[in-house]
Amino acid sequence: MVTIIVLATRNKNKILEFQEILKDFPIEIRALSDFGTLPEAIEDGETFDDNAYKKALHTAKILGLPAIADDSGLVVEALNGAPGVYSARYAGEEATDEDNVEKLLHDMKGVKNRKAVFQCVLSIAVPSGPALTYEGSCEGVLLEERCGKSGFGYDPIFYFADLKKTFAECSMEEKNKVSHRGKALAELKDEFPKILQWLNQRLLEEKPPKPDHEEFKNNDWSH
Ligand code: IMP
Repeated sequence: MVTIIVLATRNKNKILEFQEILKDFPIEIRALSDFGTLPEAIEDGETFDDNAYKKALHTAKILGLPAIADDSGLVVEALNGAPGVYSARYAGEEATDEDNVEKLLHDMKGVKNRKAVFQCVLSIAVPSGPALTYEGSCEGVLLEERCGKSGFGYDPIFYFADLKKTFAECSMEEKNKVSHRGKALAELKDEFPKILQWLNQRLLEEKPPKPDHEEFKNNDWSH
């Protein structure tokens, strides 16, 4: 029996990461793009947990298939946790990474406590609602100016003391070993045999509700 799991993201890098991590398990991975145009989840949760679950459940319900989603961001102690769940749009709805870094540098001008934590939550949900959650975090300090060209988001100002450089000066391999996402994905991989059991148990115990969208009514978790 092969279980089908949908990755609730359109980010190609995340899809590749998930595929790599889960490649040895007896599952069939589908991406959102396999299903054409779907309504977007509304990410209005107050925590990374809320948003990861909202995204996973939204996709699971529409398609009638189990789905995995993630949510991540930067939590700055001196800013009472900001930008937090607003990390992607800290400088406004249409903000670029560059704009967000600029705003954070501005808001942190002259601030002595420069502690910051990247957090990541992964949620795997079935259409009827139950979900499992995995988390990873990574502590660093915010520099006063950018350093390095790799990565994305707040990487150029996130200094990771153990490696004595910013995430934007790290190779992808170096970053993945210590990053919030890397840790959450490693936990997901370690726990995956149990997750599969859990999914298959749900499949046996509960008849999944019909997908919200009529066109996906023939979707089946396993085949
Ligand atoms: P999302 O969970 O992929 O939507 O990430 C939300 C936002 O958090 C991104 O747009 C980035 O601004 C920030 N972020 C999350 N993870 C990282 C990271 O590893 N490096 C830099 N910024 C990150």
